[in-house]
Amino acid sequence: MVVSSEVSDAMALRYPYARPTVSEADIAAVTAAARDPTLTQGARLRAFETALCETFGATEAVVCNSGTAALHMLYAALGLSPERGLLTTPVTFLATANAARLCGAPVAFCDVDPVTGLMTPERLEAAFARIDFPVAVVAVVHLAGRVADLRGLTDVARRHGAVLVDDACHAPGASYEDQGLRRLVGDGAYTAASTFSFHATKHVAMGEGGAAITHDPDLAKSMRLFRNHGMRRDPADWLHPPEPDAPWYYEMHALGLNYRADELSCALGLSQLRRLPESLAKRRALAQRYGSLLAGVDGMRTPDIPADADSHAWHLYAVAVDFAGLGKTRGAVMRALGDSGVGSQVHYIPLFLQPYYRAHGSNAFPGAMQYYERTLSIPLYPDLTEEDQVYIADALRQALA
Ligand SMILES: Cc1ncc(COP(=O)(O)O)c(C=O)c1O
Repeated sequence: MVVSSEVSDAMALRYPYARPTVSEADIAAVTAAARDPTLTQGARLRAFETALCETFGATEAVVCNSGTAALHMLYAALGLSPERGLLTTPVTFLATANAARLCGAPVAFCDVDPVTGLMTPERLEAAFARIDFPVAVVAVVHLAGRVADLRGLTDVARRHGAVLVDDACHAPGASYEDQGLRRLVGDGAYTAASTFSFHATKHVAMGEGGAAITHDPDLAKSMRLFRNHGMRRDPADWLHPPEPDAPWYYEMHALGLNYRADELSCALGLSQLRRLPESLAKRRALAQRYGSLLAGVDGMRTPDIPADADSHAWHLYAVAVDFAGLGKTRGAVMRALGDSGVGSQVHYIPLFLQPYYRAHGSNAFPGAMQYYERTLSIPLYPDLTEEDQVYIADALRQALA
């Protein structure tokens, strides 16, 4: 079996669909962290949080041990609950919705553009019209790294009394033109906060890790509490101190978990973050080249390269294949690619098709179904060479022929 969703299996392929780049500088940074007895919650965490703020134009960063944890911290801090629900895209990883369910919140889905897989203001407006619970948060995903219309989406969300956040796991470093200004994803112009995953397959890898960034100090404070069991160590916050001087004492005022990131992972994340501009430039060049190598393949569309090149971070390179028209199954194409050592993956199975979310019904989401039926992600990571891309493009042509 050569096709697998497990990263460890996928890594065995000559060309997995994603592969981290670990430099000598990364290894030196992690080694230094391993020699420092702090190991967790130390100077590297603080340095990484500062660097994230500087990179993305936020004033607060809360680094944690996964992108899922970042979403959970954020949703809890925004008060998602059984009475305050989430509206999000179904074309995303499970975590975007699951983190809200873990707050006990109802989740509803918004359809997406069938070509880009992105939520649009019109579809968000239509989704609000169908919902039968109060929506506190709308979470948009910049699928594959392409920036969604944040300004338009936030207008709609605000009109319905909800805040917009972005699950920006695919789009660190992406930017967009807005009324003559260039804005970075995460700068908070239109979103209350942004979350990132620093999983091994992402632009910036910690191994496992993530972060939420914001301009709101209260939100950041709540997320930090949630990251560490809701423990308050500052005497100014205590409600029932046993005596005036109680250096051992702490209080817990709200539920939280251990979402803390260790120093080794933070050292790796910080070192990788420094290479983000280089990695983005490489990914953009790779996407351009795939566009030329794969032009004119029957029954397949390559993703659009936006005229504003910086508005795409190219986490994924997902082609759209008319499998039915070609008389092929997606499984057969993936297996043929795998036999050539080329990994592929589907991002994503729409969440309303998951047994857990089935109650939502799929006929309300024609855009998501159309996107899902055709999409196939092929290898994209900065270390791919031109020769590699020629090989992969040939393998794909043959698999579809
Ligand atoms: C869009 C999106 N959201 C959330 C996550 C969850 O991140 P993590 O795997 O770091 O928990 C991922 C990671 O796969 C993702 O791609």
